[in-house]
Amino acid sequence: MCKTNRYTITAALPYANGPLHIGHMAGVYVPSDIFARYLRRKGKDVAFIGGSDEHGIPITIRAKNEGVTPQDIVDRYHENIKSTLENFGVTFDIYSRTTSVKHKEVAQDFFKTLYENGKFTEDVTEQYYDEEAKEFLADRYIRGECPKCQNPDAYGDQCEKCGSTLSPEELVNPRSALSGNTPIRKETKNWYLPLDQYQDFLKEWIIDGHKNDWKSNVYGQVKSWLDDGLKPRAMTRDLNWGIPVPVEGAEGKVMYVWFDAPIGYISFTQEWAEKNGKDWKDYWQNEDTKLVHFIGKDNIVFHCIIFPTMMKAHGDYIMPDNVPANEFLNLEDDKISTSRNWAVWAHEYLQDFPGQADTLRYVLAANMPENKDNNFTWKDFQTKNNSELVGILGNFINRVMVLSHKYYEGIVPAKTVEFEEVAQIKGFATRIGEHIEKYEFRAALTEYMNLARLGNQFLQAQEPWKKGDNPEEVKGIMNAATQIAVALGQLAEPFLPFASEKILNMMKVDKIDWNTLESTNEFVAEGHQLGASELIFAKIEDDAVEAQINKLQESKTKNNMTNPNAEPQKELISFDDFQKMDIRIGTILEAKKVEKADKLFELKVDTGMDVRTIVSGIAEHFTLEEVVGKQAMVLANLAPRKIRGIESHGMLLFADKEDGKLTFVNPEAETPNGVQVG
Ligand code: 2FM
Ligand code: ZN
Repeated sequence: MCKTNRYTITAALPYANGPLHIGHMAGVYVPSDIFARYLRRKGKDVAFIGGSDEHGIPITIRAKNEGVTPQDIVDRYHENIKSTLENFGVTFDIYSRTTSVKHKEVAQDFFKTLYENGKFTEDVTEQYYDEEAKEFLADRYIRGECPKCQNPDAYGDQCEKCGSTLSPEELVNPRSALSGNTPIRKETKNWYLPLDQYQDFLKEWIIDGHKNDWKSNVYGQVKSWLDDGLKPRAMTRDLNWGIPVPVEGAEGKVMYVWFDAPIGYISFTQEWAEKNGKDWKDYWQNEDTKLVHFIGKDNIVFHCIIFPTMMKAHGDYIMPDNVPANEFLNLEDDKISTSRNWAVWAHEYLQDFPGQADTLRYVLAANMPENKDNNFTWKDFQTKNNSELVGILGNFINRVMVLSHKYYEGIVPAKTVEFEEVAQIKGFATRIGEHIEKYEFRAALTEYMNLARLGNQFLQAQEPWKKGDNPEEVKGIMNAATQIAVALGQLAEPFLPFASEKILNMMKVDKIDWNTLESTNEFVAEGHQLGASELIFAKIEDDAVEAQINKLQESKTKNNMTNPNAEPQKELISFDDFQKMDIRIGTILEAKKVEKADKLFELKVDTGMDVRTIVSGIAEHFTLEEVVGKQAMVLANLAPRKIRGIESHGMLLFADKEDGKLTFVNPEAETPNGVQVG
């Protein structure tokens, strides 16, 4: 196992158009960090590469909605995402961004190499075009009905409801996401990666070569793409946000975001290597290096087909050794959704549970959607924290610390008895490592917790507190228990980095490498002075969890509203209250402006009972001509009021639209004046 000494580990570059949620953490950043931390402890040469994906239509759409520039959006979210990842202890060697100068240079260079070596095909095709916005509509700029599941809001590249990959031409009733208009077809030239020419290479490399070591979800998806037959795919776009295509005749065009983003892994490695005196080529062009891409399942085709084809076409690059994509994490049995705010935002979690990053890492690793979609619930989060982290791991470490201080003032006693349990520890270290190397993070964590369980069972079975008459045996028991506790502190690092550090600091023990953990029976020496006892994990109380559930409930209530902008309902009134109102149909006979009052009209209204004066604040919404002759609803028995010296006898009712404009609420057909509404 683990013969390679050099690893390039990449974690999907998140779009810098919003914060990270627990789905991102469980799918990509927690597993990749466990992997990177473990391999470093194993003495491997690791480059763990991350950064923000700052091009692409989701970013321009968000910028447009907020009325700011795409650069404003990515600046904001890059910082937010970067600090969130740091706060969760994700140990990237570099976390950069695809709007950097270096990245542009590397991506353009890559494009040029492919272009100059004749690796692209060129084609003029008709694409959807929005005449009002004067833009071609690629990918997420175009929406319409999914031909497969009839979802009316599918995107031009994907249906989020059924997961199908689409092209804009497949959408039924396409509409522009920019203006809502029906687009026209217009000719444009693009550069294509002829994936079909790489079909045989991909088949041999993945289908024949990785059937047994790639995850079945990844392998299955790639196989189905290859079985369907690959088609050329455009690598350029007619957009104004992205990396300019550096070839003649491509003015005004940018690279497809899925062309530039994975090159980010390479350009960021170069940036890191330059700063750290390394040769980046060792990490990308040396057959002895293992390249591993951590991604979510929606990224499989890009990392297993398109990016490898780009690298193969270029010619200088190694292929990924594995692409351990995860499935999706649901939240409280419902799909995580940014637009419906159905998410636990990672940075908000840290505000609500300060100092408890490890708890979320633990729960996400335990529920990692490794082979199928999985679910996160707040109740399970609380149980896992309180029963497992506090109840098993924290409890064991605490018992060892308290007893050591009580019996020996914190000095590790002599090993007077050999215990089988101590000899078993190294086996745990090996098995945890083997699981991690096979991307079985849940199994690795279970194995780790089994060691904590073993520690508790050992103390429970040995009961040193009942053996006061045999101090030599108590020493042996406590020496063994302390070995287990220290080993737990060491082995925790990939999963629970903050707790690991805290345990080792408290025990005044240095971190040792994983190979030693796999081969020793002594994790701490006799006579070593332990530090003062501290609690490692805090209990999570019911009210903290209820507050989170209520927060989600608010999103659900909002999502169920047919118009999320609607005002909340007013206080309840009785039927009698309602009966008191005299609302009836009237016709506006005359209208004139009220002097020195921009908003007011003085109206003569026929209410069927009389013709009366009503002063109404509608002058900014209608012209005098527009209102005369109109029927409207009149609240007739509103007590008379003087407005600008004019006595107003009642009120006209209008609907107040979201854009702030009033509109008449008329009877469908002309109705006699005086007819009551109720
Ligand atoms: O799906 C996403 O969020 C993409 N931004 C992932 C990009 S990964 C890489 F190739 F850059
Ligand atoms: Zn669909």
